[in-house]
Amino acid sequence: MLTGCQHGRNGRFLYLAPDMNKEIVVSGIRSTGFLHLGNYFGAIHNYVKMQQDYNCYFFVADYHSLTTHPDPKDLKENVYRVVAENIASGIDPEKAALYAQSDVPEIPELYLILNMLAYKGELEKVPTFKDKVRLSPNNVNAGLLTYPVLMAADILIHRAVKVPVGKDQEQHLEMARNFAVRFNSRYGDFFPEPNVFRFDQNTVKIMSLDGEGKMSKSENTNATIFLSDDDDTIRKKIMKAKTDSGPTAPDSEMPEYIQNLFLLMHMVSKPEVTDTFRSAFNNCHIRYGDMKKQLAEDMVAFVKPIREKAAELQKDEAQIKRILRNGAEKARASAAETIAGARKLIGINYY
Ligand code: AMP
Ligand code: TRP
Repeated sequence: MLTGCQHGRNGRFLYLAPDMNKEIVVSGIRSTGFLHLGNYFGAIHNYVKMQQDYNCYFFVADYHSLTTHPDPKDLKENVYRVVAENIASGIDPEKAALYAQSDVPEIPELYLILNMLAYKGELEKVPTFKDKVRLSPNNVNAGLLTYPVLMAADILIHRAVKVPVGKDQEQHLEMARNFAVRFNSRYGDFFPEPNVFRFDQNTVKIMSLDGEGKMSKSENTNATIFLSDDDDTIRKKIMKAKTDSGPTAPDSEMPEYIQNLFLLMHMVSKPEVTDTFRSAFNNCHIRYGDMKKQLAEDMVAFVKPIREKAAELQKDEAQIKRILRNGAEKARASAAETIAGARKLIGINYY
């Protein structure tokens, strides 16, 4: 069976039906800023590995970004950057559908339907909601409260079974499963239960280099390595990463911020390099300055090609538009089928 898409005569993509035998995968990234190593290792890195063997839908969650009221003039650039950085990281828009959430109106329609099955009490208990309330008590809008419902709609609209996301999203996934189960028990079996997808035992969490919480787009930007950071910025940020005076007993437990440096090293350096520093840690003669120098150079080599490719692509608006249009076409074909089925089960079936 033909899958994916091919170029037509006028250079436009021709959409061919996705392979029905492949499992469906959905994931999204908010267009709230520059992508960083947490996004890369927590999410995109897995997208790249999945695009060959699964029927993948990857999107820019631009509606989700509206909860914090970004400046309208920034939206387009932010969305384009996320697209460019995903492609530069290895997403092939001919294999995976890559689209903007706002280009698929079936998503807000399903969101509305699922809102009738989501309860205020359970939404108020979500830790990410509680964090937002704490951080911005003057902007506790309904979109923030129903964030997990929109996320469930993003996933269920394609009846996805696998969702590659970082550890911070596990609770949201659990809610998506709850909404699917609730819909099924009320209206009949329709949605499969989506699960977090992981290649390794654990979903990855990259901590901020200052050891305070997770690496994020908006907090502690000096302790976050962005895919757009230049070589010297990467070096500076890594050299400033939190360490301590080192272990005093052999085979000590590693503090979280040291584990994080080893995790990053494991991701970008040669295995023998990581092993050498790990033994030095276990034998109590590790020199964190040397470890950070090595990590900085390996990180520079890792980020540079992604940064350069993304910058080049971002300048090519015509190409980004083509990718988004083509992605939306693929996503809408799948979404329309789901919405038609859901409406029928609910009883919205008048003609
Ligand atoms: P966001 O930037 O919050 O829209 O996140 C997009 C994707 O990146 C989600 O799958 C998150 O789980 C993942 N992600 C964001 N920050 C981190 C982090 N520090 N460590 C691991 N994964 C992350
Ligand atoms: N909530 C996710 C985050 O903040 C982004 C997201 C929105 C998402 N919709 C999704 C991830 C659907 C996976 C599937 O990281």
